[in-house]
Amino acid sequence: MSRVALVTGGVTGIGASTSKLLKSNGYTVVANYFGNDQDADGFSRETGIPSRAWNVGDFEACQRETAAIEAEFGPIEVLVNNAGITRDAMLHKMSQDDWQHVIDIDLGGCFNMCRAVIEGMRERRFGRIVNISSVNGQSGQAGQTNYSAAKAGVIGFTKALALESASRNITVNAVAPGYTETSMVDAVPQKVLDGIVAEVPVGRLAEPEEIARGVLFLVADEAGFLTGMTMPINGGKYLA
Ligand code: CAA
Repeated sequence: MSRVALVTGGVTGIGASTSKLLKSNGYTVVANYFGNDQDADGFSRETGIPSRAWNVGDFEACQRETAAIEAEFGPIEVLVNNAGITRDAMLHKMSQDDWQHVIDIDLGGCFNMCRAVIEGMRERRFGRIVNISSVNGQSGQAGQTNYSAAKAGVIGFTKALALESASRNITVNAVAPGYTETSMVDAVPQKVLDGIVAEVPVGRLAEPEEIARGVLFLVADEAGFLTGMTMPINGGKYLA
């Protein structure tokens, strides 16, 4: 049986690696994206993984698009909430819009997507949800009060939903990546990034595939006793 897995933000970066790894391990994968049709077309052509565009910050769109995916591919049994954005600025320079936008997508997106699939998972008595948090949600990061708050929120959200869902054979876990080779990290000024990498004991950025391996582990049918946890994959940067 091929389980249907939906990966949000699934055509680039950590999401793309996750989509590909799940597919190569037998899942029927659908990748969500928002904004970049060109990236998505290229990704789908290269991998054969279908991509669907909508904003995970939009509650109605999440309801509508997950229903369409379920009608086409079957029930979503694995959900990876990976879509996320940054709008870095020191708090004294941060606009209300930059605050709200990051909260709405990085944390609100988890609510919107989980809300869209959880009832079906409960009825079917099976589900695997992985929410992508961040080392910066655990340690904090100057310039990221919005992002650190959202990603810390994702960890609390994960624990609460894990408690609600355990009796229905649904596991809910988080992965907290460290700094990873993606366009998000490319946007960090080089001087700042050099300082950050200098604090990573492994001495480098993560490869997206190294984060995807954690997701694959957590969504396995055999991982049913593992719930409510946050798996840090950060090269030793922050040992909570
Ligand atoms: N800790 C403490 N203070 C810091 C600091 C740090 N890490 N970085 C900068 N500051 C201080 C500076 O020393 C400076 O202080 P003074 O005003 O007293 O001189 C002040 O902050 C302003 O610094 P800048 O001139 O650099 O300010 P800026 O407005 O041009 O830029 C910034 C600020 C946008 C936050 C920039 O420093 C930046 O981009 N930092 C990187 C933030 C970051 O790591 N983002 C991660 C993105 S990747 C990601 O999020 C993925 C993931 O999950 C890991």
